[in-house]
Amino acid sequence: MHAPTRIAGGVSELKKILVIGSLNLDIVAKADRIPATGETVLARYGGQFGGGKGANQALAVAKLGGDVTMLGAVGADAAGDFLLRSLRENGVNVENVMRVPTEPTGQAWIVLNSRGDNSIVVLSGANSCVDAAYIDSMRPVIERADIVIMQLEIPIETVCHAACLAGSLGKTVILDPAPAVPDLPGELLANIDYVKPNETELELLTGCPTGEHQKGAQQLLVRGCKNVIVSLGERGVFCHESGKEAFYMPALPVKAVDTTAAGDSFLAAFALGLARGESVRACADFAQRVASIVVTRPGAQSSMPAAAELGKL
Ligand code: RIB
Repeated sequence: MHAPTRIAGGVSELKKILVIGSLNLDIVAKADRIPATGETVLARYGGQFGGGKGANQALAVAKLGGDVTMLGAVGADAAGDFLLRSLRENGVNVENVMRVPTEPTGQAWIVLNSRGDNSIVVLSGANSCVDAAYIDSMRPVIERADIVIMQLEIPIETVCHAACLAGSLGKTVILDPAPAVPDLPGELLANIDYVKPNETELELLTGCPTGEHQKGAQQLLVRGCKNVIVSLGERGVFCHESGKEAFYMPALPVKAVDTTAAGDSFLAAFALGLARGESVRACADFAQRVASIVVTRPGAQSSMPAAAELGKL
């Protein structure tokens, strides 16, 4: 049971978060550098971790103390068992995640360089089976949520459908537009309360290159998103709420070993801040502190901090 949260000026109910998205088994190798085309390099270490942008975000919310449910799909295989067990053990409600007998659980191959930067290739597998019919069958679950988080590792038509449904039900809809696609449908953008691209994703979405994130954010606002949060990596974050003055928040200086899921942890913590009724500035500050811990640890879900650890920074 999640108790009411104490916030400045009183006690507020912690809002319920629903993540609709991907679950992947991450196969990771860390080398001195990411190989060039046609090159082979030897890894310094490797391993398998729980991953998938959706699952990473759900697990991060749960570890930070949020009330979170996950919708998505895994295969009827050992990787699916592993991912569901790990989410369940960390407090994520996974009772409505589909088991698909005809597809393997999603997989991601991740290569890291010595600075912790990554390159990722994803094989969607069961994630591709998350369709509009499944979303419709989960309407009661969506109705129970207050905040709905999505990414783009399930079919984009499904994301549009779910965003329209959640929007029509008055939910707060957050989109992590990753992996980015050049043109997001207008009906999707119109139902987004918060969109959080990084600079590369913003460029794909709007054509505005790195350094022109103010212009890119403005474009997304004009196209219907209500609030735009651009993560700028080591340079922090740029927030533009519609009708308000935009602001920057610097990043915390840390030595990164693995940047995988930094964006996922940022988004999860930001959503949890909203669930507690905090301002965008407070949400962004909390999110940056969480992401700054995540990049100092290996793996995606394995690197997510628990609420108690946040006092350390
Ligand atoms: O955002 C990081 C995630 O992207 C990894 O866990 C991998 O599964 C890919 O989905």
